[in-house]
Amino acid sequence: MILGLFIAVSALLSACGNEVVLPDNADDQLVEGFEVYKANCARCHGADGGGGIGLSLQLIEDRLTDEEQHEVVVRGRKRMPSFGTKLSDDEIDAVVRFTREIL
Ligand code: HEC
Repeated sequence: MILGLFIAVSALLSACGNEVVLPDNADDQLVEGFEVYKANCARCHGADGGGGIGLSLQLIEDRLTDEEQHEVVVRGRKRMPSFGTKLSDDEIDAVVRFTREIL
């Protein structure tokens, strides 16, 4: 009984772990990147960047350079739409940094 409760609580806590929370010391650019991500990217790449319609963006910083990542977001790639005309350069810089540092 107590063990069951423990398992239920742990499952709940680990489900909460999927939510992205910015560190307390996050600067304005990271906050902007998070907003841009939630509004434009999360529906395909998942709220926590774990993927869905789009690929996982977790640890993307190990797979693509900053420049390559900008290129995908600006131009799009296959089923990924381009954001070059939808987002400003600052918004793209912010969301690329957010995905590299936070997801
Ligand atoms: C309509 C769904 C969709 C949306 C919205 C979307 N993406 Fe994607 N994204 C994809 C798909 C699908 C791919 C895989 C493309 C391929 O197969 O080459 C992808 C690939 C990527 C990649 C390359 C991943 C890799 O491992 O090479 C990056 C980086 C990326 N997306 C970032 C973003 C960002 C940032 C946003 C928001 C500004 C965004 N995406 C919005 C669907 C989407």
